[in-house]
Amino acid sequence: MSSVTLILKFAQSMPQLWGEFQNRHTRGAKTVDLHLHGKRALICGASRGLGYGCAEALAREGVAVTLVARRQEDLDQARAKIEALGSAPVQIVAADIATAEGRAAALAVCPTPDILVTNAGGPKPGDFRNFTREDWIAALDANMLSAIDLIKSTIDAMIAARFGRIVNITSGAVKSPIGVLGLSNGARAGLTGFVGGLAREVAAHNVTINNLLPGQFDTERLKTTHAAAAAARGMETDAYRKAAIGMIPARRFGDPAEFGAACAFLCSAQTGFITGQNILLDGGQFPGLL
Ligand SMILES: NC(=O)c1ccc[n+]([C@@H]2O[C@H](COP(=O)([O-])OP(=O)(O)OC[C@H]3O[C@@H](n4cnc5c(N)ncnc54)[C@H](OP(=O)(O)O)[C@@H]3O)[C@@H](O)[C@H]2O)c1
Repeated sequence: MSSVTLILKFAQSMPQLWGEFQNRHTRGAKTVDLHLHGKRALICGASRGLGYGCAEALAREGVAVTLVARRQEDLDQARAKIEALGSAPVQIVAADIATAEGRAAALAVCPTPDILVTNAGGPKPGDFRNFTREDWIAALDANMLSAIDLIKSTIDAMIAARFGRIVNITSGAVKSPIGVLGLSNGARAGLTGFVGGLAREVAAHNVTINNLLPGQFDTERLKTTHAAAAAARGMETDAYRKAAIGMIPARRFGDPAEFGAACAFLCSAQTGFITGQNILLDGGQFPGLL
């Protein structure tokens, strides 16, 4: 019997050691424990894209995740994918997080999360001259007020527990506003200003609030945005996407799993000193130093 076989047989005889071995070698080598096992997370806009990336990354760390999105079928698929990892319990809530009823439904299932990830679909692009008051209210509801309301509903329990991690998915447009995304620029800047102040108020309680700013990540939303932008310029979508990649120093779009990994890190026990930050994930596309 080789020494490797002997070690394996020894490890198999000790359940704890065998569990650790499997964790490191069959689910990908883990060298950092984020100390999140057993925590609960409420993740909005989580049936696909960046929200799903966050949910999967947190579940891999043993966090019990509650996923919110509007379409039941997509949620069922997302739950099946995360359950297949076998690492954490998964709950789903089909609800529109931009509405008070939707938020109440989400909080009924996960009333006191240790981790809150706020997220919703981005507002429509367009010429600001054509935006109506209703367009503005819809954008504010989805990308600013719903996040603030969820924070208001959950933060006091986090303070009492002396642990809380809030991550808001905003946009690279907070640092470099994009003309046709006026609704998004306005709503997200409002959320950024609000949480900047609140983060400092709650930091002493080991409750952190940070914003993750996606550049171009390969999601449904990006495909739709690119198709519309290509059509507006009379270009083929593929040619447009190729040109878009050419503008990114990393020469590729981001992977939602990378976004999720950054989110999980920001939620870890080790990051209690990182708060009130706007962290850009864009493959180097933003050209400034700060
Ligand atoms: N991907 C990028 O490159 C990029 C860049 C900058 C900013 N962003 C912003 O990041 C956010 C996430 O983008 P993404 O690319 O992950 O989008 P995505 O692929 O379209 O996924 C959006 C997710 O949110 C859910 N959702 C949308 N509106 C919702 C609502 N009102 N209530 C509950 N769930 C809702 C969707 O499911 P249902 O439709 O079933 O509800 C889906 O699960 C958006 O605000 C987007 O504008 C993305």
